Amino acid sequence: MKPANKKYIPFQQINLPDRQWPNRVIDNPPVWCSVDLRDGNQALVDPMNLQEKLIYFKALCDMGFKEIEVGFPSASETEYEICRELIEGGHIPDDVCIQVLVQAREHLIRKTFDAIRGAKNVIVHFYNSTSTLQRKVVFKKDMPGIIRIAVEGARLIRQLANSYKGDTNIRIEYSPESFSGTEMDNAVEICAAVMKELGASPEHPVILNLPNTVEMCTPNTYADQIEYFIRHLPNRQSAIISIHPHNDRGTGVAAAELALLAGAERVEGTLFGNGERTGNLDIVNMGLNMYTQGVDPGLDFSNLPALRRMYEDCTKMRVHERHPYAGDLVFTAFSGSHQDAINKGVQYMKGTGGDKWEIPYLPIDPADIGREYEPIIRINSQSGKGGAAFVMQNSFGYNLPKAMHPEFGAMVKAECDRVGREISTDELFQVFCKNYLEIPQKYKLVGHSMLEESGRDSSRVHFHGTVECDGEEKAIHGVGNGPVDAFFQAIKQVGIKDYEFISYHEHAISSGSDSHAIAYIELKAPNGKTVFGVGIESNINMASIKGVLCAINRSLLS
Ligand code: KIV
Ligand code: ZN
Repeated sequence: MKPANKKYIPFQQINLPDRQWPNRVIDNPPVWCSVDLRDGNQALVDPMNLQEKLIYFKALCDMGFKEIEVGFPSASETEYEICRELIEGGHIPDDVCIQVLVQAREHLIRKTFDAIRGAKNVIVHFYNSTSTLQRKVVFKKDMPGIIRIAVEGARLIRQLANSYKGDTNIRIEYSPESFSGTEMDNAVEICAAVMKELGASPEHPVILNLPNTVEMCTPNTYADQIEYFIRHLPNRQSAIISIHPHNDRGTGVAAAELALLAGAERVEGTLFGNGERTGNLDIVNMGLNMYTQGVDPGLDFSNLPALRRMYEDCTKMRVHERHPYAGDLVFTAFSGSHQDAINKGVQYMKGTGGDKWEIPYLPIDPADIGREYEPIIRINSQSGKGGAAFVMQNSFGYNLPKAMHPEFGAMVKAECDRVGREISTDELFQVFCKNYLEIPQKYKLVGHSMLEESGRDSSRVHFHGTVECDGEEKAIHGVGNGPVDAFFQAIKQVGIKDYEFISYHEHAISSGSDSHAIAYIELKAPNGKTVFGVGIESNINMASIKGVLCAINRSLLS
């Protein structure tokens, strides 16, 4: 690579030593304006057709957008026709304002006013480029020449808006395109001139949209630019300050958030950040960032998967697996320590009954945005014992005792290593069944009866049964202070001795109308090793007895 310092010009910082924005917090949502159908659309390999734009427009309205830039009607016949269909086809709710973009050029402005006939609420958004670089290499004009273009555009727009027939409520937006590459005093001067020409007043404010057309600096510098601009703008109360960040450095969301702190009141962006080059500001990302800080963004993200499907179908773009909030993998923990912490967080929330979201590694409750809770934990060879136990509990209702987690976790890890990939929840369940419920049985209980004998101070249980051992059946009988104890005594008659009872857990499991009990039995085998057994039966006593036999049979497997 060439030495960077010889090739690239570092961004000029703003002189604002008494900046106020770092001490502020975002406690209110901005006015959101979607530019999906214009900025997003113009950046697609295949721009959306009419049908796709109508579907997208409806989805934006359903989410709660009240300002939607629908296109560039003077740019092509298709764009013009789409604007007409939205209006004539009655697709625009009364409380939604459409926005149309146009360059500050006479014939394009006239065509744009023609395109909006019959609409109820419209923002006419005009722009010209103001940056130092564009003035030098594209327009070859000085600043007064650039201001003249904007002022002449504003004059015509004011005149057309005033003479407009019908009930259309027209508002005006001006963008000094490439604002962030413009000297701030020049940006202020051109916007002030436009406001004056438009006769802006607090009753009829102009939207001044300050684009980070190409993101070229750190987000704090964009915030400085916005604060500087606002502090120097004459007649400030007659303007609504809007921002339009792009994402060239990957910090579009950060830049927008800091710009809000700096005083911006309105934000233009797109769903999932579609837009020119690296995209526009991602409104889903920014809105949900606010939501997780307790600020209602005023947009409905409650069915994000459906929104994503609509977006992918209409744009033919795809949302990356790790896209904040929306990606396939963002509610998935592969690492064992993460799984364990999530598991503990879930238990903590259940245990305390608190209504605050306090789960490590999950900044948002997936259920709030229509995501499944189930795939939060996925199992691969990196996963820990806690993850496997969590899936057993969360997906199948099996609450494995803690002491059993290492044993089961090791089985799951071995299976992942064997297949060489992540395993599904069903495959994980099969590991459980194969190792606990479907094991080879050296000893098999083929029949039994139990009798409880209650005395004044104590009760005893008699167990009578038949055990099949290596194909041969033997009758057994034992007496104990409970069913498990009686069974333990009885199996001594077939030579099963020297097992020590360590722990016992049980709970109910139900699938549909069927209710069963599951018992987890931990025994110490004669060789000193501990082993778990599992029994499932409709009757809890039998579940325990089966669990004991399961542990014994497992201890005899080589
Ligand atoms: O990025 C930009 O500067 C734009 C303007 C036309 C607002 O899209
Ligand atoms: Zn843009």
